[in-house]
Amino acid sequence: MKILVGNWKMNGSLAANQAWLHDIKAKYPTPRADTMLAVCVPYPYLAQCQAALQGSAVAWGAQNVSAEAQGAFTGEVSAAMLADFGCRFVIVGHSERRTLMGETDALVAKKLQAALTAGLQPIVCVGETLAEREAEQVQQVVGRQLAALVAHLSITPFIDGKIIVAYEPLWAIGTGKTASPEQAEAVHDFIHRQLLQHGQVSTPILYGGSMNAQNARALLAMPNIHGGLIGGASLQVDSFLAIAHA
Ligand code: PGA
Repeated sequence: MKILVGNWKMNGSLAANQAWLHDIKAKYPTPRADTMLAVCVPYPYLAQCQAALQGSAVAWGAQNVSAEAQGAFTGEVSAAMLADFGCRFVIVGHSERRTLMGETDALVAKKLQAALTAGLQPIVCVGETLAEREAEQVQQVVGRQLAALVAHLSITPFIDGKIIVAYEPLWAIGTGKTASPEQAEAVHDFIHRQLLQHGQVSTPILYGGSMNAQNARALLAMPNIHGGLIGGASLQVDSFLAIAHA
């Protein structure tokens, strides 16, 4: 089973989404046993997605969540609220949030815990910068990001198969530069081995970073690449579905 999750980032409008949702239901009418298709949208459009996608072959989710359960946290959105809108997934610790909004490994771990508590399936992102790759620090950086999650989670660190990890090298996000299948597989294999040490045998590991219809097949053919987190190519239904067909 491959898991393909669209990440619209801060894109969309009621009218544009309406067309996208209508289109995907028409072109992807029935669930496929070998593919899980989902889209993570900005908060204000969750109700629209829920109304359109309920009972369809496409699941939905959010792109961020508060680490707190409720209360005086102006502007924040809790995991329970996301569950209220039928979210199955939530992206946690995307590199844009880590670098632009200052999210730390510790905060990402708290968000992961909050998502799990609400019954959501968190997609937690890890990945290195170009400078870190050039300095041959990929395993160090990704290992640190994973270890921080495990260290900060209170009960069962990774509930097997419940958490999804997305490997997104920062230099490949939105740049049109994709990691080669071999480059990506090497890191996925490393992540898989790290997770195994914590008893996690079936954590799906998605690749993200300029995935498109042209490069998806070779990436998804790798043994430890279980799907994709897709930004730019998810904004158009046809390019998103072309990845699913690949
Ligand atoms: P991209 O984004 O596919 O546009 O590179 C991926 C992501 O940031 O999740």
